[in-house]
Amino acid sequence: MNMYDIITKKKSGLVLSEQEIRFFIDGFTKGEIPDYQASALLMAVCFQGMNEEETATLTDAMLHSGDMADLSSIPGIKVDKHSTGGVGDKTSMIIGPIAAACGVPVAKMSGRGLGHTGGTVDKLEAIPGLQTAIDSERFTEIVRSIGISIIGQSGNIAPADKKLYALRDVTATVDSIPLIASSIMSKKLAAGSDAILLDVKTGSGAFMKTFDDSIALAQAMVSIGIHSGRRMMALVTDMDVPLGSAIGNALEVQESIDTLQGKGPDDLSSMCIELASYMLLLADAGETLDACRLLCQNAISNGKAFDKLCAMVEAQGGDTTVLHKGFEKAAVTASYTAQSSGYITHLNAESCGMASLALGAGRETLEDSIDYSAGIVLLKKTGDYVAVGDEIAIFHTSDAGKLPTATEVFSSAISIGSEPPAKIKTIQAVVSETGVDLL
Ligand code: URA
Repeated sequence: MNMYDIITKKKSGLVLSEQEIRFFIDGFTKGEIPDYQASALLMAVCFQGMNEEETATLTDAMLHSGDMADLSSIPGIKVDKHSTGGVGDKTSMIIGPIAAACGVPVAKMSGRGLGHTGGTVDKLEAIPGLQTAIDSERFTEIVRSIGISIIGQSGNIAPADKKLYALRDVTATVDSIPLIASSIMSKKLAAGSDAILLDVKTGSGAFMKTFDDSIALAQAMVSIGIHSGRRMMALVTDMDVPLGSAIGNALEVQESIDTLQGKGPDDLSSMCIELASYMLLLADAGETLDACRLLCQNAISNGKAFDKLCAMVEAQGGDTTVLHKGFEKAAVTASYTAQSSGYITHLNAESCGMASLALGAGRETLEDSIDYSAGIVLLKKTGDYVAVGDEIAIFHTSDAGKLPTATEVFSSAISIGSEPPAKIKTIQAVVSETGVDLL
């Protein structure tokens, strides 16, 4: 067996055998298969796809490429949540503390930015001193004592995914249902929680641009989780427009703090209440979704959810001063203003993400470092009316030289017309063991 033949087989649209998939994952994890061959196979999968059995084998091979977390010493139903990735998606930093404040233990391993999307680990690392590389004993201890810890995919959890994820980020091989489903589910299963809520994004800023593909991805992941004995649910949620107003690491942490203090943007706040309520429901923390919603709303209004975030940041070595006093502003800020009058009929989330990357908020190569202060604050979004010269967004960066490209990319994100656009629902479907409920 060799990689050349495996790549050729997938390139021709044939089904890979279990042995071939395990040969690839095993060899790649050990460093015996070079990045260029792995990239070629990933690209072939992007074009040719994988069937259910290949996807299940790929997930299993990645899951068993390293250790599995053992959370059995933490009492209660441990719940994890994972988003398929979006722009301005800072929900983990909000709903994790809400769920923990409602007594549901959250032991979460998160990812870094991928393609045009941000990652929770990069965002959290904008908090000075905060450690996301924490060993499993300390991780378990923090969850047991505080009720929540969010760390990177540390140690030896699904190392095959860790390597593949970084490679996919820089080889344009992210948007493939089998690759996303196996990537997410291998690490979610290895991370050891009893229940998993998936937030499957759909629209221009998601890896799945169409509703049907998003449903297919949700079903693939729910089915993998159920076969592994986990409680599973997936919400298909809008990512046609960035979520909330802030895009970029420190800016998104600040917006998460505002939301936990009851001062967040409406779309983000209501999305977080819904996601957190489903987490509570999966953990049997309330009898009905409405009862769970009430618990979540109370956790925000009585300050307990924000206190959980502070406790987690402190336990992970972070400086909590920024949580109370705010982050240092970026060295350079610039307004983006409307060039014509009318309604914003579309604000392409992917292009907003790319504009934020152009300001320094993400990586273009594996070695790049991040400008934590960089990003965009949206003052207007889809459906808002603007007159010529109105501020639509404020760009933040440490490097004024990055403004022209970011401006050009952001301009391509905006369409202005004379009629207001139709409203898009934020939560569009719930996928569970029993099927798909359209909302
Ligand atoms: N998130 C992941 O963890 N993996 C993917 O492939 C995409 C989003």
